[in-house]
Amino acid sequence: MEVICKAKAFQRTCEEARQKGKSVGFVPTMGALHAGHLALIDALRACGCTGIAVSIFVNPLQFGPGEDLDRYPRTLDADLEACKSRGVDWVFVPSVEEMYPAGFSTKVRVEGLSEGLEGRFRPGHFEGVATVVAKLFALVGPCRAAFGRKDYQQLRLVERLVEDLAFPIEIVPVRTVREADGLAMSSRNRYLSPEERKRATGIVRGLRAAVEAFEKGERLAKSLEALARAPVEASFDAIDYVAVVDPKSLQPIDRIEEKALLAVAARIGQTRLIDNVVLGEERLL
Ligand code: PAF
Repeated sequence: MEVICKAKAFQRTCEEARQKGKSVGFVPTMGALHAGHLALIDALRACGCTGIAVSIFVNPLQFGPGEDLDRYPRTLDADLEACKSRGVDWVFVPSVEEMYPAGFSTKVRVEGLSEGLEGRFRPGHFEGVATVVAKLFALVGPCRAAFGRKDYQQLRLVERLVEDLAFPIEIVPVRTVREADGLAMSSRNRYLSPEERKRATGIVRGLRAAVEAFEKGERLAKSLEALARAPVEASFDAIDYVAVVDPKSLQPIDRIEEKALLAVAARIGQTRLIDNVVLGEERLL
């Protein structure tokens, strides 16, 4: 496994790999790798990628003032070990200066999809995500890139970005990996105290209640939101949103025709967690 810190070297490596006949798979990450990230690597292998690149970069552009940029877990040695044991070929670990050298002045904004849900509570977040993802895509070049469905809005936004800017990249969406009790895997779960960790299952309990009601025929967004909200209200300190939206446009809907995204963001102490389910498409264990 090769660890690469320079953007040009990473770009050259990916290009050479393709010239040698490799089908490149790419997993962008901010490190603090967990089973959810490893599932992204596995998904790329399963769809035929023969050379896997992972980037590890805590992107300052996507953190707002007062967010957790400084305390975001940085576990590079363990991350490299995890990549190695999963057979990753190249790990790109740039510095902030390498990604955003002096004079860097381009921002990428995906309108519409960026504005609701997370966008309302994290202004500027998706502009930071779109900008770094666009730059990473430009470096990796033609490939398949895996994104987790836990960050559903991010996934939709990246799909839009690829289509609008004609990146020669196929996005591979990957199902959320959950702990045994249902909690969605997240690097931010590390912030939770043991007591908070127990309460954190409130979100998945809410999602399950809504899935169950949906399966019994409930189609009113307000009713499903209320069912999902109750366990979150009981176990979290604050709720940012519990929302049923159209899974493509992410616009609020009143009644579900076929499918809908039910998305939740809530806070326990200093930790903000998000999770979701697509009603009419997935079941939760
Ligand atoms: O999902 C993440 O870890 C980040 O938002 C990403 C896609 C690596 C961009 O920094």
